Amino acid sequence: SNSARRHIKLDSDDENSVDVQKMKSKNQKVNYTHSLRYEEIHFDLPCQITTKEAISAINRAKTQYCKQLISNITCLSLENRLYPEELVGGCPSEGYSTGKELGCFKDEKKFRLLSGYFGINKNGNSPKYCMKLCLQSGFPYAGVQYGYECFCGTDEPPLSSKIPDSSCNLKCPENQHETCGGYYTMNIYQTGIKKFTAQIANVEDSQGGRNPVKIVFLLTLTGRAVRQVRRLLKILYHRNHYYYIHIDIRQDYLFRELLPLEKLPNVRLTRKRFATIWGGASLLEMLRSCMWELLNKEDWKWDFVINLSESDFPVKPVSELTRFLTANRNRNFVKSHGREVQRFIQKQGLDKTFVECETRMWRIGDRVLPAGIQLDGGSDWVALSRPFVEYVAPPDPDHLVAGLLKIFRHTLLPAESFFHTALRNSQFCATYVDNNLHVTNWKRKLGCKCQYKHVVDWCGCSPNDFKVEDWPRIQNTQARQLYFARKFEPVVNQAVILRLELWLYGLEQPPRAVENLRSYWQSVYHHHDPRTTSDDAFLTLGESIKRRVNNSFLRTNSSCLLKLGDLLEVHSYHSNDTYESTLFAFKSSEGHKIEVALRPVSHLSVTRNSPLMGHLELLQVSSDYDQKEQMSRNFLRLLSPYSEPVLVYDFFSTGGSKVYNMTCLWVGPDGRLHDAVEFSIEESSLVGHVKPSLKHPILPGIWHIKLIYKDSLLASAKFLVLPLEYHLGNTIKDHQVPLVNGGSKTPKDFKGTYKKFLPTDAELDNLETSSSIQDRNRLREWIDELSSIFYKVSDMCAVSLNSVDVCGTILSSCVASNWSSYAPDPKSAMGVLNETTGTF
Ligand code: UDX
Repeated sequence: SNSARRHIKLDSDDENSVDVQKMKSKNQKVNYTHSLRYEEIHFDLPCQITTKEAISAINRAKTQYCKQLISNITCLSLENRLYPEELVGGCPSEGYSTGKELGCFKDEKKFRLLSGYFGINKNGNSPKYCMKLCLQSGFPYAGVQYGYECFCGTDEPPLSSKIPDSSCNLKCPENQHETCGGYYTMNIYQTGIKKFTAQIANVEDSQGGRNPVKIVFLLTLTGRAVRQVRRLLKILYHRNHYYYIHIDIRQDYLFRELLPLEKLPNVRLTRKRFATIWGGASLLEMLRSCMWELLNKEDWKWDFVINLSESDFPVKPVSELTRFLTANRNRNFVKSHGREVQRFIQKQGLDKTFVECETRMWRIGDRVLPAGIQLDGGSDWVALSRPFVEYVAPPDPDHLVAGLLKIFRHTLLPAESFFHTALRNSQFCATYVDNNLHVTNWKRKLGCKCQYKHVVDWCGCSPNDFKVEDWPRIQNTQARQLYFARKFEPVVNQAVILRLELWLYGLEQPPRAVENLRSYWQSVYHHHDPRTTSDDAFLTLGESIKRRVNNSFLRTNSSCLLKLGDLLEVHSYHSNDTYESTLFAFKSSEGHKIEVALRPVSHLSVTRNSPLMGHLELLQVSSDYDQKEQMSRNFLRLLSPYSEPVLVYDFFSTGGSKVYNMTCLWVGPDGRLHDAVEFSIEESSLVGHVKPSLKHPILPGIWHIKLIYKDSLLASAKFLVLPLEYHLGNTIKDHQVPLVNGGSKTPKDFKGTYKKFLPTDAELDNLETSSSIQDRNRLREWIDELSSIFYKVSDMCAVSLNSVDVCGTILSSCVASNWSSYAPDPKSAMGVLNETTGTF
């Protein structure tokens, strides 16, 4: 396999690819192509392009539109016409206060601004007074001690009992009321980097309850975890807040399923949807677009926007968040990177230009960031005040924001820096708070595996999903100003979500009456979705199950008329955080719906006498391996000629430090060796995957993997590559059968190595392969034979009030079948609004 890889033609941008990394580690020379493939360019290039990244991007892009866009942006950048050279910020003294403008200090001294102002609108109407609190240079940090504080106004300040008398003779300007916007404002300064939060807490406690702020939860969603989204919405919901939802334009299912929530006056789904790829410039475009729509919703009177995703969950009740933000009105909460700025810029790729098209971020070269501003960034989860949103979201912003947008339109992960940078450099700089109210489950060793190479020309990181063992991290948020945690995914771990929910509701035990509390169903197919190629496998398997079930009805009662009809939906079903089965729901001829539970069957044989194999937990072939969560997301292990199979292994600790250098043989249904991949298992890599390089379409039929260690066979497993009877969403045509199911050209030549592990020629003759399948009827029979070897029907139910007798087979009601996707799932149902509390 290595000799084959050595000759791969590589674009310069493949530098971080697995292939190149492997070649480099073996000191093999990597040859890149550095010239444009002019024959593929059907437009006039605006300039001569020599940058290797841009060349690579143009070569790799598929459409003329994208090639042209990349070329245009590259040329603008080369001609220095893409970005402003300098921007002028509006922050008085760049985030530092001299102390003088507050009227607190006679001499100009440089103070680092710790936090901006926060305010309390006393009665919810006209302001009475404004207060400024200043801390003197060199004041002792311990405890709550102030150098000076200044009050203006007619009434006695409510905090006067806590704050010593004024002594700084501040005169309120005539327009004081407007300047203060109706709030008490308080500026806290400090000379060092130590934080000063004690007084903030006091003020919150005493004032938080008044005229509570209204928050817009801006949910930016993707995927199919609709039940988790409902669970999240249910816990976040309060009549007085607002819920604005953006769903990735490619996610029809989630949009359709959530649309009925619009019956609530404070929940809306935006119709202006974007293909928000991971890290894409479109994420910022989408956020600004939603914020602009929110500013224009006249009946929604909100004070803050907080963005959240499908994998966030609160760690404190929303009432506490409301209190906190009420005491911190007009502040803006963003989390900064906390590193040296230049290092952050490089790690983040802020000094590179990216272009988004074909749902990918293409890196096209280096750039120089404008002078005059301070770049800042960190997390893209933020809580922004309305005045700041009014500043950054409108389509016709001021010079600073317009300049920043020119930069951020071509920035990877733009939402991680745009708001921070706009805040720091604008008149809002004093409202910056370095806290995004989130705790994030970073495990960089797992989360930084270049897993987004298929969407961005960059190695990005993602936080891990919380599991029960991460609980202390959640618990530690209690005494801190943290209100959310990420990430949570019920297909990875639902127990931790339940634990968190109980904690939030202050319960020790789950209420007994909650049905199916530890079950989870996630949609994987819906007949209303626009069909994709991966649906061909579900449709094929669905058809096969249908025939198998219909035949079994006929076997019980030969005059049976009931037949399963169209496939409606497929769900994967998990219970107690274990995958149980995949549920196929069909229409049936007598107006019922019938749901069938299917379980993949393992065909693994292990040579038990090896010490390593004694520690084997899992060995199976699947696809969609998630390196971060160390699991395959293809629970059904459904593979078609267009899948990318991987061997997934999991050993429990051997307790030793031995390294096992192994080889995994991939033997096709034709009995030939299609790939041999070397890998090693050691104490630090007991869980992992092995990826063969197989050409598409893969030969369908029964495959074998063989695990070889020191020239002997440790284990072997059979797996199925399902032949397809659907192609691009339609029933396959006869002439397409060999094309789709005929495999690709002859596999690599291994020159007899591993011969002893392969079937002999005599054994080969007995293998039926797709080459003998010429017509669709025979294809169907073959599919059914294969599907019954690899998939077992474990349950069946009918969507009706009671059990039904289907031609002598009694089917229980799905609602009464705990495993069924039609079974009650109260934890994810919104339920009935409690009129008194305004919550669900
Ligand atoms: C995180 C953090 O957001 C970021 O701060 C960090 O630097 C990178 O990791 P991650 O958890 O990897 O992001 O991304 P995820 O939550 O999966 O996606 C971010 C947002 O984009 C979500 O709102 C998600 O719904 C949306 N998204 C993602 C889409 O709309 N479509 C996609 O295809 C992928």
